[in-house]
Amino acid sequence: MSDIKVSLPADCVINADIMECLDYLPDGLFNLIIIDPPYNLAKDFNGMKFISMSAKAYEDYLRSWFYRVCDKLSPDGTLYMCGDWRCSSSMQRVIEERLTIINRITWQREKGRGAKCNWKNAMEDIWFAVKNPNKYYFDVEAVKMKRKVVAPYKVDGKPKDWQETETGNFRITYPSNFWDDISIPFWSMPENTDHPTQKPEKLYAKLILASSKPGDTVFDPFLGSGTAAVVAHKLGRHYCGVEINREYCLWAAKRLQNAIKDKSIQGFANGVFWERNTLGEQKSSNSAKKASQIFSQLFCKSC
Ligand SMILES: C[S@@+](CC[C@H](N)C(=O)[O-])C[C@H]1O[C@@H](n2cnc3c(N)ncnc32)[C@H](O)[C@@H]1O
Repeated sequence: MSDIKVSLPADCVINADIMECLDYLPDGLFNLIIIDPPYNLAKDFNGMKFISMSAKAYEDYLRSWFYRVCDKLSPDGTLYMCGDWRCSSSMQRVIEERLTIINRITWQREKGRGAKCNWKNAMEDIWFAVKNPNKYYFDVEAVKMKRKVVAPYKVDGKPKDWQETETGNFRITYPSNFWDDISIPFWSMPENTDHPTQKPEKLYAKLILASSKPGDTVFDPFLGSGTAAVVAHKLGRHYCGVEINREYCLWAAKRLQNAIKDKSIQGFANGVFWERNTLGEQKSSNSAKKASQIFSQLFCKSC
């Protein structure tokens, strides 16, 4: 572990307990920190059983690593923390002890386990917090959304604020703090692993594009199957991730190896985030873009 302090590689996955690892990581190093910790639920992470506890005990658990994680954030850095309704208020309280909360994103995950005596649990919170509310990076242009136009309004016969394309009518919009365009990784998606709580690449792509620059370093203290590292790499950022389970680290390493060849992120194409269930349109828009690039290359060569 002491090797880490001497020279931390620009990109790394560390198989360790975050509690033992933090003292070896340099302070102020990371521009963006994404945290998806064990929620306050009974969950089996490949043999490591997390147990549900009182809100007070869970807050103490968060505090046992959160303050030290904040020390690793750069002075103008951003931190996101994911949680469900049960642990989200504890997270808000603990985050506010060290950082300024800028917003709460609500992610409608769509899939959730049905319950006979309760509403199905189909949403999560993502807390957006910064060290310095007067100086932090946020690139809203990098996270625009492409939505189908339901009622295409025209002025003088021309589309008003939307585009008519071969693949349909779309509007490019600024994103809100309600995200309903992202599903959890389904078995049929290339990014899917057997990790029980894997986050979608599209979700992390929004966080990374909005809150870091190319070349910045993203830190994930609970890396799981490697989503934060994989997306950081695909988007030209450096990464450092810590995960206690060796098998999960190997899954992350495999995904990182695949990401060297394939940088695509499902749901993010041609610089915009597409709605759910638009894979067909994304593919035809990609082929249309490629065709127009080939055409312009041919045209330029013949000029
Ligand atoms: C909610 S999951 C993260 C999933 C991840 N975001 C992904 O997309 O795959 C939390 C992870 O934290 C790991 N973990 C729990 N306690 C840990 C500790 N003390 N140090 C490092 N990792 C830990 C678990 O093994 C689990 O993989």
